[in-house]
Amino acid sequence: MNQLINFDEKNKVFHLHNDQISYLLSIEDGKTLAHLYFGKAIKEYHGQLRYPRVDRGFSGNLPGSLDRTFSRDSLPKEYSTAGEIDYHTPAAVVRQKDGSNALFLTYEGYKIVDEKPDLKGLPHSFVENKDEAETLIVTLIDEKSKVKFELSYTIYRDRPVITRSVRVVNDGNDAVNIEKVASMQIDFVDRNFESITLPGAHAHERRVERSKINQGIHVYASHRGTSSHQMNPFLALVDPETIECTGDAYGFAFVYSGNHKFEVEKDQFAQTHVNIGIDDFNFNWELKPEASFQTPEVLMVYSDQGLNKMSQAFHSLIHDRVIRSKYKDQVRPILVNNWEATYFDFNEDKLKPIVDDAKEMGIEMFVLDDGWFGHRDDDNSSLGDWKVFKKKFPNGLDHFADYVHQQGLKFGLWFEPEMISIDSDLYKKHPDYLMHVPGRTPSPSRNQYVLDLGRKEVRDNIFDQMDQILSSNKINYIKWDMNRHLSDIYEADLPSSRQGEVYHRYVLGLYDLLERIVDKYPDLLIEGCSGGGGRFDAGMAYYNPQIWASDDSDAIDRLSIQYGTSLVYPQSMMTSHVSVSPNEQNGRITPFNTRGVVAMWGDLGYELDLTKMSKEDRQAVKEQVAEYKKIRKVTQYGTFYRLKSAQTSNQCAWETVSLDKNETVLSVVRVMASAQPDLTKTKLVGLDPQKHYEDQETHEVYGGDELMNLGLYDPVERGDFKAKMYHFKAID
Ligand code: GLA
Repeated sequence: MNQLINFDEKNKVFHLHNDQISYLLSIEDGKTLAHLYFGKAIKEYHGQLRYPRVDRGFSGNLPGSLDRTFSRDSLPKEYSTAGEIDYHTPAAVVRQKDGSNALFLTYEGYKIVDEKPDLKGLPHSFVENKDEAETLIVTLIDEKSKVKFELSYTIYRDRPVITRSVRVVNDGNDAVNIEKVASMQIDFVDRNFESITLPGAHAHERRVERSKINQGIHVYASHRGTSSHQMNPFLALVDPETIECTGDAYGFAFVYSGNHKFEVEKDQFAQTHVNIGIDDFNFNWELKPEASFQTPEVLMVYSDQGLNKMSQAFHSLIHDRVIRSKYKDQVRPILVNNWEATYFDFNEDKLKPIVDDAKEMGIEMFVLDDGWFGHRDDDNSSLGDWKVFKKKFPNGLDHFADYVHQQGLKFGLWFEPEMISIDSDLYKKHPDYLMHVPGRTPSPSRNQYVLDLGRKEVRDNIFDQMDQILSSNKINYIKWDMNRHLSDIYEADLPSSRQGEVYHRYVLGLYDLLERIVDKYPDLLIEGCSGGGGRFDAGMAYYNPQIWASDDSDAIDRLSIQYGTSLVYPQSMMTSHVSVSPNEQNGRITPFNTRGVVAMWGDLGYELDLTKMSKEDRQAVKEQVAEYKKIRKVTQYGTFYRLKSAQTSNQCAWETVSLDKNETVLSVVRVMASAQPDLTKTKLVGLDPQKHYEDQETHEVYGGDELMNLGLYDPVERGDFKAKMYHFKAID
C-alpha cells in the first residue's frame, strides 16, 4: 500500500496525497506551520510554492528578528492565534492567568498514524479498515503558557477529502480559558473566490446563496444553540466560473449540531483566510492543567469538476463513513405520518382507518406524531412526560402498535426529548431541569422550554422515560424533534466562572443521550427533525440516517429546499412527503403527480389523511408507491446530479444513476406555464455512452450518448407546476 502522508525532513514539508488530491504544509523558519497547497493531486513537491520573502509595510516580523521579509501576517498559515503579529481573524484565543490572550505557536513535533482516531463524545467520520486512511497530527506549542494545539489531518485513500480537528492540551501549571477554538484554518493564495452558503428560516431552509468574496471579514454563523434553519454549517468556495459540472470547488461541512462560525477573510494581499469551528459567542471553556479540549471535526472536499462532484464526495463520505445506522444500506420504508392529517385531534379509533388504508396502498410504516403522550391536546403541555395519553389510547400504546404490526406495517413514534412544558409532571417534580438563569424569567418559544441537557441527571431522567417506551420492542422508528432554539443559557451544575461552557455542554449532552439510545436500540431507525430541517447537519447524520427536510411540504418550495440540501447531504438522508393541495403551509395548488415526483427525490412518505382522499388520488398513491418501490434503490443510493435549479430558472431537474450505470431516474419540474413556451431540453449525465437504455414507460430505446448529448425535449404542457419522471434501464 502506498503511503498517503510523507514528510520531507530536509525541506520540512508534509505531503498528504492520494490519486485525487494533495494537501501540503511546511514548517517555515523552523517554527511556523505554513499552508502551501490544497487541490488537485501532484505526484511530488519540489518547493515551487515556498513563501516568497517580501518586506511588507505594516506586516510585522518575528519577535526579536531583524529579518523584515518574514511576517506571520502575510505567510499563509495553518493556524493563527491572537497576540502574535498576525492580524487575521484568529483561529484560537486563549486567556491566561496574567489576563493576556497572547499566544505564539511554534512547531513542536508530528505523528503519523495509519488510521483515523475516534473523537470521544463527538460524532465524526470513521474508517472501516485501517488501510483506508492515514492521519497526521502536528503539535504546536505556546512556550510561555505551555498550551499545546494538536492539529489533526486525515486523508482517505479513495476520496477527495481531508478531515480536520484540533485538540488543545494544557501542559502548563495554571488554568487557562479557551475563548475561541476553530477546528481548522486554511489560507488560500491567488484565488478570486465566491462563497456558497445555505441560509434560510423555518419552513424555508437551505436556499443556495452565492456571493463574491471582497476584502473584509465575512461571517456565516449560528448562535441559536443548534446548527439551525438560519445558517447550515456548510460553506463552499468556488471560482467565479464554477458551475454544476465544471470548475474548482472547495466544500467544508462541520460535523456538529450546535453553534458554529465560518469566517472567510479576504486580506490586504487578496489571500483568503478561512476559520471554521464552534461559534465563540458566549463560549469560554476552562482548561485546567493536564486537561484537554477536543474540537468537532470539519470535512473538507476538493472537486475539480464543479459542484456536483463536490456533492457526490460529501454524499459518499457521509453515507459510507459518518452514518452508522444499520439502515444506511437498506431501502427506506415508505411511511404515512399523521401530523398534517390530524394534528393533535386524534385517537386510536381515528387512526386505525388511516393504518388500514396505508396497508391497502402498499405503504410500509405508520408514524404516530406529536400528541400521543401526557395530556397533550395542543402544543401547550406535556413535553417531558413520555407516558401514553390514556384518553387517546385507552388500551395503551402497545395495543395500538400491535394493530399497526398486524396490518403488516412498521410502527414509528414521535419524541421531543430535549424539551419541557411548564404544564407537565416533569416540571412539577423538577422545575430546575428547565434551562434558565437564576432570578430571571425564561423566555418561552412555542410555549415550551429547553431542558438543561448538560446535566447527567436530566439526561438520565429522559433516557429512562424513553427506555420505558422503547423496551416494549414494538417501536421500529422514532422521529427525534426539537421545536425551539436555546435561550436563557445557564447550567445549574456549573459555577459562575464556567457558564461560557453551557452551549457546548448542551450539545455534548445531546450526543450522549443519542449515543445511549443508539447503543441500546441498534435496530431503531431514527429520523432527525427540528421544526422541519433545523438540524440538518453532518453531526446528526452520525445518529440519524434520515432527517425531515422542512416543515414546508409544498412541492414547489421543496424544489429549492431539497436542491440546497443536496449540496452536502445524500438523498437517502432527506425525507420528503406528499401532502394535501392546497398546501397547508402556503396554500399553493399543485398536481398530485408533481407532489409525488418531488417527494421521490428523497425518502418518500405521505403526510395527509389517506381516508379523506378522492378515488383518483387513492389510486394515484397506489401507483406512486408501486413505482417508488421500483426506483428507490437508485434514487436513494445512486450517484446524484443536479441539472437545473428552480432558484435560478423556471425548471428544476435532478438525476440519479446507479453505481453500475445500468439504471437512471431523471425528474424534471417546470414551475410556471407560458402561452408561448420556449422549447427546452434536459441532457442526462453520468451514463455509459456505449450502453443502450430503455425508457421503462414507453419502451423506447436510446443510446447513453444520445441521452447525454442530444438530451430529451421537456414536455410542453398546459398548467403550472407540471412534472415528469423518467426511468431508464440499460438493455445491453
Ligand atoms: C415539528 C415537525 C413536524 C411535526 C411537529 C409536531 O414542527 O417538524 O413534522 O412533527 O413538530 O409538533
